[in-house]
Amino acid sequence: MDKKTVKDIDVENKVVLMRDDFNVPVKDGKILDDFKIRKSLKTINYLVEKNAKVILMSHLGRPGGKVVEDLRLDPIAVRLSELLNKEVKKLNDCIGEEVKKAVDGVDFGDIILLENVRFYSEEKENNLGFAKKLASLGKVFVMDGFGVVHREQASVSGVAGLLPAVAGFLLENEVDVLTKVLNDPERPYVVVLGGAKIRTKLELINKLLNEADWILIGGALVNTILFAKGVDVGGSKIDRELLPDVKKIIDNNRLVLPLDLVVGRDNGDEARIVDVGQEIGQNEFIYDIGPKTLDLFLKHAKKSQLLVWNGPLGKFENEKFAKGTFGFAKELPGLEKVIVGGGETSLVIHDLELEDEIYHLSTGGGAMLEFLEGIKLPGIECLLDK
Ligand code: 3PG
Repeated sequence: MDKKTVKDIDVENKVVLMRDDFNVPVKDGKILDDFKIRKSLKTINYLVEKNAKVILMSHLGRPGGKVVEDLRLDPIAVRLSELLNKEVKKLNDCIGEEVKKAVDGVDFGDIILLENVRFYSEEKENNLGFAKKLASLGKVFVMDGFGVVHREQASVSGVAGLLPAVAGFLLENEVDVLTKVLNDPERPYVVVLGGAKIRTKLELINKLLNEADWILIGGALVNTILFAKGVDVGGSKIDRELLPDVKKIIDNNRLVLPLDLVVGRDNGDEARIVDVGQEIGQNEFIYDIGPKTLDLFLKHAKKSQLLVWNGPLGKFENEKFAKGTFGFAKELPGLEKVIVGGGETSLVIHDLELEDEIYHLSTGGGAMLEFLEGIKLPGIECLLDK
């Protein structure tokens, strides 16, 4: 990458403030997927080896600027300590006198984890005063939370404007892998998009129509596209406001759309397969791609030299509607080069134990999509140039 990294700056015996993305799924205090935490270890270990005092910051969830007990970072500190085999001291705040004292009180080579930065509304507002309070804790800023580089927030770009700011190894690796996809993809280059909202992915689809060889679309994303083509989508949610824009792309032959669908009722009890164009009841919803579509998608995937996938192809939490997503994921190890991103898609990869079977599993969801859209991201732009 063309930004400085921890290797390009003196961190030895320094107090280093680092932004990670420890926004992982937690239920009843248990971490369901520690992938992002594991990926952050390399930079933390490097800093500890350099005898830096390491101060970690992250958010968890969207607490809306107030303390939410379930979104405290204690489970993260416990998991980090286990993985690093070294105590990570968790604080109950991220700014203030107590925090300063605690930072002063630990030795060089020690690690502190601050409390969820989004407990303060100033974080999302990118408030300068708040960023100054965070920045006052360290002498060097390391950005290693790729998952949040698209957020212009105090602990991301705010702090970077106040301290010498460089990338960690996780961020460097993500940027290197995705820059190659952006500038020089192997061909055929196939992109698979699923998930919920067409609104957040339409710009990307538009860009990819000029860059990828095929774009395969599943998930709830496809409802609005099918509706725009005049297909019956039953009671499925569509984005009416976007219809004029969606209509402009529906006939592009790089877009690969479902041939059949699995539809169900809201309670998920019944599932039936319909061909695209067949009637769907108003009390039925599109919840998965059908078997003919899975075959079609796999046929394209198998021709790819590079496949990028973000977003599940159906409501995979319910096994009746999981065949599309899991059926597709199971074939990934046989493909040439596969890059997967997005929180839900990552869960599927881990469920099938495919993390080591694919080329790259990104720690970013929205960040990966915006990167591939070619947008300049605030959490990367703010770092020192090489
Ligand atoms: C993610 O999980 O994608 C990142 O942590 C970003 O979270 P956010 O969408 O709440 O900013």
